[in-house]
Amino acid sequence: MEDLVIRAACLDDAAAISTLVQRTVRISNGKDYPANSIELIVANFAADKVGERMAERDVFVCQQGDRVVGTIALGGDRLRTLFVDPDLQHTGIGARLVDHLEAHARKGGVRELTLSSSLTARGFYERMGYRLIALEEHDGVSTFLMGKLL
Ligand SMILES: CC(C)(COP(=O)(O)OP(=O)(O)OC[C@H]1O[C@@H](n2cnc3c(N)ncnc32)[C@H](O)[C@@H]1OP(=O)(O)O)[C@@H](O)C(=O)NCCC(=O)NCCS
Repeated sequence: MEDLVIRAACLDDAAAISTLVQRTVRISNGKDYPANSIELIVANFAADKVGERMAERDVFVCQQGDRVVGTIALGGDRLRTLFVDPDLQHTGIGARLVDHLEAHARKGGVRELTLSSSLTARGFYERMGYRLIALEEHDGVSTFLMGKLL
């Protein structure tokens, strides 16, 4: 895909990021988690919460034309909030966002990235070289703690 740009996000992007994440959670993660867990996650990605978290994370968006089609963030040594528009998944955007974030983290001195993977994304992260560290559970939502040496 030619016209994709990955750039640092700003506060003005919070609403578009919120819309993207909430839609992706419902469509993609909805296959793997019960409805009450999905709604907890959706509530956690309201635009105001996305905006507040930008103060403590480096957030990036992948933009196609004027549309935000993917997002990823770095908080400390943790890869966070990777979501790709369901209509464009399996076209390489997720891998590009992870490559971008790993390069950014490396520049900032991070030696090992960790993340909390959804059940949905585990195979993707394994493909990207992350290893399983532990199974975790928060508020009844199961995730996989994974890590990769940079
Ligand atoms: C997980 C996600 C970010 C992957 O993004 P994507 O753009 O679809 O992934 P890519 O097209 O870059 O795939 C890269 C590689 O991983 C593979 N892959 C993608 N999803 C996979 C999966 N669920 N299981 C196994 N492999 C997968 C692809 O086939 C591709 O392999 P290849 O290089 O051999 O062709 C995306 O599917 C998504 O947003 N999922 C829902 C939200 C989510 O769970 N995010 C993670 C929160 S922790």
